[in-house]
Amino acid sequence: MYVFKHAADLKAYLDNARTAGKSIGFVPTMGALHEGHLQLVTTALEHTDLVVCSIFVNPTQFNDPKDFEKYPITVEADTAKLTDAGCHVLFLPSVAEMYPEGLAGGPHYDFGYLETLLEGAHRPGHFQGVGRIVHKLLQLVMPDQLFMGQKDFQQCMIVKRLLEITGLPAQLVICPTKREADGLAMSSRNVRLSPTERAGATLIYKVLSYITEHHAEADYAPLIAEATRRLEAGGFVPDYVAIADAETLQPIFHPTSGKQVALVAAKLGDVRLIDNMVY
Ligand code: PAF
Repeated sequence: MYVFKHAADLKAYLDNARTAGKSIGFVPTMGALHEGHLQLVTTALEHTDLVVCSIFVNPTQFNDPKDFEKYPITVEADTAKLTDAGCHVLFLPSVAEMYPEGLAGGPHYDFGYLETLLEGAHRPGHFQGVGRIVHKLLQLVMPDQLFMGQKDFQQCMIVKRLLEITGLPAQLVICPTKREADGLAMSSRNVRLSPTERAGATLIYKVLSYITEHHAEADYAPLIAEATRRLEAGGFVPDYVAIADAETLQPIFHPTSGKQVALVAAKLGDVRLIDNMVY
């Protein structure tokens, strides 16, 4: 696996590959890689000739400075995992490399109402930061296909919108959430859970399953209230429990004919976890 730290070197390498007719798959990450990320790499390898993974803990998407400081950094182990997974290229830039203009300011993306609800409402500025870094990475890598995980459901919708806004030609491929044996969605933040918290964290999965099993009920308000109550009883501090249209993310309170998604964001100790289920 080639490791590039400078954008210009990566660009030169990828320009050559493109001229040689290779299709490029891209998996953007913030590192602390787990099976979910490696599944994205494996899927990218199945679909494209050359797979690029980036590891960059993007400061502009952290609305909580403590979350940024505590974000796990495991570059050596990540590099070994990517090599074993068969990834071809790792891009490992510094903050100065990605933000030569500085962190303040930057473009504003019109994500519309998508940015005003759920994660957008609870993490002000988060999706602008995601948009800014994903836009930069896409301009650099110019992938044919971009692979992202369904666990970050709203982020996938934001990136889809980013592709529309910028007109960048990458095709977004959303891959299913990879789960631990007890149902907990794999996440880089899971390593920050204490053993007791880790054992209790599966409750998010149980609560999402509970909602999907009861989705035929006429009124979702009591369902959401019960799901919230269960999370609180398990020691979580929920930011939201929501049921939404899976195409638009508009909240819904009654059964509908289309696909729905149940979404949860909740803190356990000082670790904030998110998860969702589409049905
Ligand atoms: O999902 C993530 O890990 C990040 O939000 C991403 C897409 C790599 C942008 O920093």
